[in-house]
Amino acid sequence: MSILVTGGAGYIGSHTCVELQQAGYDVVVLDNLSNASEKSLERVKALTGKEVTFYRGDILDRDILNEIMEKEKIDCCIHFAGLKAVGESVVKPWEYYNNNIAGTLTLVDVMRQHGCKNIIFSSSATVYGDPAQIPITEECPKGQCTNPYGWTKSMLEQILMDMQKADPEWNVILLRYFNPIGAHQSGTMGENPNGIPNNLMPYITQVAVGKLKELGVFGNDYDTPDGTGVRDYIHVVDLAKGHVKALKKIEENAGLSIYNLGTGHGYSVLDIVKNFEEATGVKIPYSIKPRRAGDIATCYCDPSKAERELGWKAEFRIREMCADSWRWQKNNPNGYED
Ligand code: NAD
Ligand code: UD1
Repeated sequence: MSILVTGGAGYIGSHTCVELQQAGYDVVVLDNLSNASEKSLERVKALTGKEVTFYRGDILDRDILNEIMEKEKIDCCIHFAGLKAVGESVVKPWEYYNNNIAGTLTLVDVMRQHGCKNIIFSSSATVYGDPAQIPITEECPKGQCTNPYGWTKSMLEQILMDMQKADPEWNVILLRYFNPIGAHQSGTMGENPNGIPNNLMPYITQVAVGKLKELGVFGNDYDTPDGTGVRDYIHVVDLAKGHVKALKKIEENAGLSIYNLGTGHGYSVLDIVKNFEEATGVKIPYSIKPRRAGDIATCYCDPSKAERELGWKAEFRIREMCADSWRWQKNNPNGYED
C-alpha cells in the first residue's frame, strides 16, 4: 500500500515514516520544509534501508497534489502538515487558518477527485479546551480553544466529520495527540525546533546541552499535587506506532473514528525535571515564573478506546522518554544542521 505522509519530514511525521516502512508500507512524503529539514528523511532511510519518495511542495498546491495522486497511486493519506506554534498563531491568525484549513481543504478535494477517501488526521488534546473531565475520554465535549492554532484543529475535525457524514465512502480517523516528547532510540532523529523552544522537553534538553541557562517553570500555584502543570507525555515512537494501527483500522473501512493517543499518566513540570535528571545525570536549573496565558492545570487522557479498538497501547515510560530526548539533543546539538 502506498501512503502519502504530508508533513513527513517533521518531528512526528519522520518517526511515523520509519514505523510505516518497517511495517511494509510504501511511503511518499509531501513537505514544504517550512519547519523541517530534508535530512530527517535521509535518517529515515538510514534506519530502514528503504527509500522515501519525497516531493518538496505545499498542500495548498493543487498541481503537485494532482501529480502525486496520479503517479504514486496513493491509498491513504496521513496528514501531519500544518503550522503548530501556539504563540505565533495568535500573531498570525490568517497564516494559520490559510495554511492549516485551506491547505487541508485543498488536499482532501484532490484526494476525492482521485478516488482516495482515506485520511488519518493529526489532531490534538487542545480541542478539549479546559477539559470537562479528567482523565479525558473521547466522549468528553470539545471546548473553547485559547488560540487560532487550536481552532484550526477543532474546525478541521468538524470539516472532516461533516465530509464523512455526507459521503460514507470516506474513512476518517482523528487522532488526538497528548504531549509528544522523546526521540528515536538510535539518537539520529528527534525534534528540531526553530529558535527558542516553546514546549517543555525541548527547552529542558537545550538547558541540559548548555544552549539555554535555566528553565522557567510557568506557575506553581495550580490545583495539582506540586502546583505545576500536569500533562500526559507520550513517546513519539509510540505515537508513530499508533498511526500504523490506525492504518489497519482504515483498511477495515472504519468510517469515522476518534482516538486519544496518550499514556493515561499525568506528570507535573517538576516531575519531568526530576525524571530527566535521574535518567540523564544532568542537572536542570530552574526558577518559578508566572503562569503562561492559556495554560490549564491538568490534562491527561483515558487511552483505553485506542487499546480496545486499535490494539494500541503506549509502551515507553517517562524515564525512557527523557533519556531518548537527551540522546538526540546530545548527539545533535544543532538538530539536523551540521
Ligand atoms: P512539525 O512542524 O515538525 O511537522 C509539520 C510538518 O509540516 C513540517 O515538516 C512542515 O515543514 C510541514 N508543513 C507545514 N505546512 C505545510 C504545507 N502547507 N505544505 C507542506 N508541508 C507543510 O510538527 P509535528 O510536531 O511533527 O506535528 C505534526 C502534526 O501533529 C501537526 O499537524 C501538529 O499540529 C500536530 N500535533 C503536534 C503536536 C506536538 O506537540 N508536536 C501535538 C498535537 C498535534
Ligand atoms: C502544547 C500546546 C498545545 C498542544 C500541546 C501538544 C501551548 C500553549 N500549547 O501544550 O496546543 O496541543 O502542546 O503537545 O504551546 N512549561 C514550563 N516551562 C516551559 C515550557 C512549558 O513550565 O518553558 C510547562 C507548561 O506550563 C505546561 C507544561 O510545561 O504545564 C507543558 O507545556 P508544553 O510542552 O508547552 O505543552 P502544553 O502547554 O501542554
